[in-house]
Amino acid sequence: MMEYPNTLTDERQWRELTARVASWFSPEALARITGGGASATERYGCEWLLIGGKRWRPLLTAAIYRASVEGPIDAIAPAAVAVECFHKASLIHDDIEDDDNERYGVATVHARYGVPMAINVGDWLIGEGYRLLAGMAFPDDVRSELVRVAAEGHRQLCLGQGNELAYCSEPKPCSEDEVILLYRRKTASAFEVAVQIGAALAGIDEATRSRLSEWTRLIGIAYQIQDDREDFSSVRGRRGDILACRPTLYLALAGASTEQEVRDAVEAAQRDRSPERLERLQTVIAASSIPRSVDALFLTYCRQMRDALDGIAPVPLRGILKRITEGAFPRDAEVKF
Ligand code: IPE
Ligand code: IPE
Ligand code: MG
Ligand code: MG
Repeated sequence: MMEYPNTLTDERQWRELTARVASWFSPEALARITGGGASATERYGCEWLLIGGKRWRPLLTAAIYRASVEGPIDAIAPAAVAVECFHKASLIHDDIEDDDNERYGVATVHARYGVPMAINVGDWLIGEGYRLLAGMAFPDDVRSELVRVAAEGHRQLCLGQGNELAYCSEPKPCSEDEVILLYRRKTASAFEVAVQIGAALAGIDEATRSRLSEWTRLIGIAYQIQDDREDFSSVRGRRGDILACRPTLYLALAGASTEQEVRDAVEAAQRDRSPERLERLQTVIAASSIPRSVDALFLTYCRQMRDALDGIAPVPLRGILKRITEGAFPRDAEVKF
């Protein structure tokens, strides 16, 4: 039975951890870790790594390791950077797929450098992530596990994004379960990669790893619902999920609504996807009880996420994950982690 020495309940330890992770994303550290090449692809890739983001995924990798292993954590910096490389690549490709020209309040990579270059920068970040994992100074079996975890996450994320794209090009009724599966694939996968890479590096036992997977599934779903709620309530003036006819819980619940007017609006919008019909669908959903139902589902997943956390036996691990969860869901105080 492994021991979990670091409680991280101490505020100072927590601040040290977040500062250490942030230090891996300074221009100098990134240049050192990624090799700091001067080609356009490398410069744009590093620029996108540096430009913003909340860093939840690399923080998860580092926190899991830190809660389980004594001593300095800089040895795992390349793995944490790899996790962020995968995530940032997925955002570059997602912004192309979603035709979004802005993220972090600035122009996206394809808006700056064109779609072909953006595809290439995303691909480079993925390659860089695998290179970093394969080069970790850990035993062979650990390194192959890191690569396996990343590859599986990468596959699942693409399957989720692909389901969404297929739906958008040929809309049809979608159920709540289908949408939740899609969220699990497109969003929970990156959390799973971050967590399982930290767990593999720390040598965490299989039973705990499987509890962690249960938690990443739920945090991924809740995180995506939170993102969709923000999208829904801030849609004016931009092409949000409904106006792009994307499969979200709003659309699934609207398609299954007991109100004829709501179902008709979904069917009409799916049939021709004209801006007028999609605008009308947005208005009809906003006036219905659906936003409140999505809020209720969000709280249900938050509660399940909290229960999954309670099932993680090692106290320091549970403590650090609760802390990260509180940070990632700051506004919904109804659920205490
Ligand atoms: C964006 O994730 C994509 C979603 C899964 C909603 P984040 O909101 O965590 O992105 P960064 O890391 O802050 O850029
Ligand atoms: C997030 O997709 C999932 C991935 C990036 C794989 P979204 O399209 O819902 O996220 P935002 O709103 O653009 O960040
Ligand atoms: Mg998007
Ligand atoms: Mg998307």
